[in-house]
Amino acid sequence: MPATFRALRAHKTDAGIETRLESLTDADLMEGDVTVRVEASTINFKDGLALTGRSPILRTFPIIPGIDFAGVVETSANPGFAAGDRVVLNGWGVGETWHGGYAQRARVKGEWLVRLPDSLSTTRAMAIGTAGYTAMLCVMTLERQGVTPGSGDILVTGAAGGVGSISIALLSALGHRVVASSRRAEAEGDYLRSLGAAEVIDAAEFSGPARPIGKERWAGVVDS
Ligand SMILES: NC(=O)c1ccc[n+]([C@@H]2O[C@H](COP(=O)([O-])OP(=O)(O)OC[C@H]3O[C@@H](n4cnc5c(N)ncnc54)[C@H](OP(=O)(O)O)[C@@H]3O)[C@@H](O)[C@H]2O)c1
Repeated sequence: MPATFRALRAHKTDAGIETRLESLTDADLMEGDVTVRVEASTINFKDGLALTGRSPILRTFPIIPGIDFAGVVETSANPGFAAGDRVVLNGWGVGETWHGGYAQRARVKGEWLVRLPDSLSTTRAMAIGTAGYTAMLCVMTLERQGVTPGSGDILVTGAAGGVGSISIALLSALGHRVVASSRRAEAEGDYLRSLGAAEVIDAAEFSGPARPIGKERWAGVVDS
C-alpha cells in the first residue's frame, strides 16, 4: 500500500471554504477499524452545498468532503470485513464530521460499510449513489408497512429529482402502479414515463385544499 494518497481537502479560511488537492498519509485520517481504497464517489446535492459553502455541511476543518464512496478494503480490524472485500458507504456523517470519499483512501467504522454484491461494480454503486440508496430505503419502508403491487397507486413527489426518479424506477420494476408528481410535469413527462411512471401529474394539484378523509387515493407515497 503506498504511503501517501491524494485527497481533496476543505479548509476554512477568512474568504470562506477553500479546497485543495493534497498528498496525505494515513496519519491524516481519523481512527477507524477499516481502511478502504476508494474507487468511486458521487457529487451529492449535500456535497454541492458543502463545497460551495452555501450550507454549513462541513462541521470540522480541515476535512475531506464526499458523503459516500465505494471501494475495496485494504486493511481491517473489524471481524465483518477482510482485505479485498468490495464495499459501499452512504452517509453516517462521512464528508461532514468524518473524512469522506474525495480521496484515494478512507478510514471508517466497519459498521458503516455495506458489502457490495458481485453483480454491482463500485462505479455502478456510485452511479446509483446516496440518492438511489435513499430511494431504496423508501421502497423498503413501504414494503414493511405491507404495501404490495396490488395495494393501489403509489405517489412519488419531486419526481424529476434524484430520490424521486430512482423511486419511480424501483417501484415500477417491482410491479407497482406509480403516479409521478412534478412541477415540471410537461417538460419531464416523457422522462418520468420512461422510468416507469404510469401517470404524470402536476405538483400544483397538491397546492389546493386536501381531499375529504375516507377517499384515500394513494396506497403509499414517496414524498421527496
Ligand atoms: N439525495 C440524497 O442522497 C438524499 C438522502 C437523504 C435524504 N434526501 C432528501 O430527499 C429529498 C429529495 O432529495 P433529492 O436528492 O431527490 O433532491 P433533488 O434531486 O433536488 O430533487 C428534489 C425535487 O423536489 C422538487 N422540488 C424542489 N423544490 C421544490 C419546491 N420548492 N416545491 C415543490 N417541489 C420541489 C423538484 O422536483 P420536480 O421538479 O419534479 O417537482 C426536485 O427535483 C430532500 O429533502 C433531501 O434532503 C436526499
